[in-house]
Amino acid sequence: MDTKCFGRNDIEIYETIGSTNNRARELALKGAPEGTLVISDSQSAGRGRFGRSWHSPQGKGLYLSMVLRPPLPPDRLPVLTLITGLGAAEALGRLCRSPFTVKWPNDLLHHDRKIAGILLESDHIGRADQFTILGFGININIAREELPAEVRERAASLYMATGQKWDRVEVLVKILQGIEGCYFVLLEDGIHGLLDRYRRICRTLDSEVAFQYDGDLVRGRAVDVDDSGRLMVQKSSDGRVLKIDSGEVTLLKSPPPIDCQNG
Ligand code: BTN
Repeated sequence: MDTKCFGRNDIEIYETIGSTNNRARELALKGAPEGTLVISDSQSAGRGRFGRSWHSPQGKGLYLSMVLRPPLPPDRLPVLTLITGLGAAEALGRLCRSPFTVKWPNDLLHHDRKIAGILLESDHIGRADQFTILGFGININIAREELPAEVRERAASLYMATGQKWDRVEVLVKILQGIEGCYFVLLEDGIHGLLDRYRRICRTLDSEVAFQYDGDLVRGRAVDVDDSGRLMVQKSSDGRVLKIDSGEVTLLKSPPPIDCQNG
C-alpha cells in the first residue's frame, strides 16, 4: 500500500460483512489507530446517508471504511466529507482521464450520474478520543443492467464511465492516496487551498438548487462553501444567503460549463 498512513499497517479484509463502517467503529472504540482500514468484497447491510442502503454486490465495487482521529474542533468535522470527495474525485480524474465532480456534500458524479458515496460518522465528539469513520463506496466493474432498477437512470460505475474494467486494488490505492493527500494538507495547512480546489470540482456551485429548510422547500443558487464545509445558498425569494450544514440538496439546473481540473 503506497500510502503514508491510510491502510498502511492495520487492514482487515472480508469476503462479506454487514457494514464496513460498523466494523471500523468497533475497532475505533477499542482504540484502533488512525489509518486502520476495513475493506469488504461485499456488504449485506451497506449503509448510505439518511438510513438508505448501499448496494454492495460481490466483486463489483470497493466498500471501505477508515478510522480517523482528526484533531479538529467539532464544528470543523464536516469538512472531512468535502476533502474526501475532493481527494477521490481528483484521483479518479487522473486515473481515468475523465472529469469527476462532487455533488455537495457526499456524492461523486461522472457526467451527473452518481458513481460513489461518502458516509462520515463521528463519535466521542469533543473528547480526547474523538474519532471519525470515513466510509466510501464506489461502483467499479458493474454494468448498467446490474444496477438496481431504482437507481439505473441516476447511477454509474467506472466501467460505465470509461468502457473498461478496472483492477480494484489499483483503484483502491489511488483513491486512498488522493484522500490521504487532502487529509494531511488539511491538518497541516488548513482548509483554504483545499477549498479552492473543491470549488473547481463541485457540481453544486453555481447551480439552482432546492432543499428543505425549517420545514419549507427553499429554492436558490449555490454560491459558495464556507470554511466549515457549509453550502451557501442565495434564496431566490429574497436574496438572503443561507448556510446549510447537512441534508439533501436537489440540483435543478445545469451550471455554466466548468473547467474540471481533474487530469
Ligand atoms: C451515500 O451515498 O449515501 C453514502 C454511501 C456510503 C457507502 C459506503 S460503502 C462502505 C461503507 N460502509 C457502509 O455501510 N457504508 C459506507
